[in-house]
Parts: sequence; structure tokens; C-alpha cells
Amino acid sequence: MFSWLRNISLSTRIILLASLVTLAVAGVSYSVFVKRFRENAETAMMEKAAAFTAVADEAKNHASELFLKKSIAIDELLTELKAEQAKGGDYTKSRFFQTIPVVTGWSTAEKAAKSENIDFKVVAFEARNKKHEPDSGSFRANLLKDLETQLAAGSGASIGRIDRATNTLHYMRAIKLDESCMLCHGAPGGKYDPDGDGKDALGFPMEDWKVGGTHGAYEVACRHNLQ
Ligand code: HEC
Repeated sequence: MFSWLRNISLSTRIILLASLVTLAVAGVSYSVFVKRFRENAETAMMEKAAAFTAVADEAKNHASELFLKKSIAIDELLTELKAEQAKGGDYTKSRFFQTIPVVTGWSTAEKAAKSENIDFKVVAFEARNKKHEPDSGSFRANLLKDLETQLAAGSGASIGRIDRATNTLHYMRAIKLDESCMLCHGAPGGKYDPDGDGKDALGFPMEDWKVGGTHGAYEVACRHNLQ
């Protein structure tokens, strides 16, 4: 089979062998380089997503403090909301809605995401607004489920994973409930439901969630072109 090799001079054989070895080394180095490059790019994207969602969370925390310290004219805004709702107005357009701490957090992040070309969303199961609910069985739904399992086990409030089918990195940071959230998401009939109708100021049934628990997550999705 290799009889043709015997007809080639020794020097040509050496050159041929050297070329093959060089090619093999170049090939291995290239694939190691590409792998490292992809890993570094993925780590950088993960860090960027972590920093981005951390800012959304801190914007929410800051707004919660203002809300609890009554630095916002809550009563005045509530009266305005009631008047608008009586006329059939959309609660998401009200001034009151914009001051809800978690809404301040995600609105801030949405604006930054737009200017930075980042895909940012809020995702949640049992969502009040169905636009926040991930499609059942989707990659995002499974990731959120895994984040919730992780939270229940007490190990970490964020999770990141690459969807290889779309080459998209999805990063989620859980949204923690603090005292300010109880006004609407707390116990029906409790201290934040003085009229005892089981509904919050916007008319939603209160869920009886607890301070220290979580509801949904901030999500950043970044596509990358590395295979
Ligand atoms: C004044 C009432 C009110 C307060 C206070 C409030 N929320 Fe909500 N929350 C709402 C309403 C109303 C919605 C639905 C928003 C929409 O239609 O986009 C909502 C939606 C959400 C969502 C998006 C998922 C979904 O269910 O649609 C998250 C996450 C959330 N709230 C978490 C919190 C956290 C955490 C706090 C406290 C830091 C908080 N909320 C405080 C009324 C409130």
C-alpha cells in the first residue's frame, strides 16, 4: 500500500513528515486557541450579565428604601390612581405604578439595555402580568425552574447557561421580596390590607408571599457567534 513511499527519496520523506507534524501541531494549537477564546468570551459575557442585573437589583433596593421612608407622595399618587382607574385607565400608565420599587428597577434596566443593545427581561412563574411568564418547556422556563430549585437549596441567587441551540447565553438573578413588596404581594387580610378585601391598591389579589422570599428573576440574554 505504501510502496510509493519507498520510491521517494529520504530528504523528501523527511520534508513530508516534518510538514505533517507541523500541520498537526498547528491544527491542535488552533482548536485549543478557539476553545480558550470561546471560554473567555463566555466568561466575559457572564460577568457582564451579572453586573447588569446587579445594577437592576440595586436600583430596586434603592427605590424600596425611598418607598419605605415615605420619600414618595404615595397617598397622593394612590388617590390619583383611584381616580384614573374609575375612568377605566390603564394602571401601568399611572404615576403610582412607575414608583413601585421593582418597576423602577426593571424600567431603569430596560432603558440601559436599549442603549447598550442588551436583551433584558423580567421572568416569573405565577406572574401577575402574563408577558413575564416564560413559555412552558422552553429553555428559559427550565433555567428559571433550576434557579428556583437552587434557591430552595440555599445555594446562590443567580444562574447562567448557554442555549447551544441558539448560541445564546441566558443569565438570571432572582428578585428578592423585601418589606416594601408586602403592600401588594403580602398577606391578604394582614397589616398591608387594612380594608381586608384581599386585594392590593391596584386591585390584584395579594399572594401572601414572604419577606426574604423571591418572585421571578431579571434575565439578560446575549447571543454570540462562536460555535
Ligand atoms: C403597589 C403594588 C406593588 C408593590 C409594592 C410591588 N409590586 Fe410587584 N407587581 C405589582 C403589579 C401590579 C405587577 C404587575 C406588573 C405588570 O403588569 O407589568 C407586579 C409584578 C411584579 C413582578 C413581575 C412578574 C409578574 O408577576 O408580572 C415582579 C418580579 C414583582 N412584581 C416583584 C415585586 C417585588 C420584589 C416587590 C418589592 C421590592 C414588588 N413587586 C412590589 C404590584 C406591586
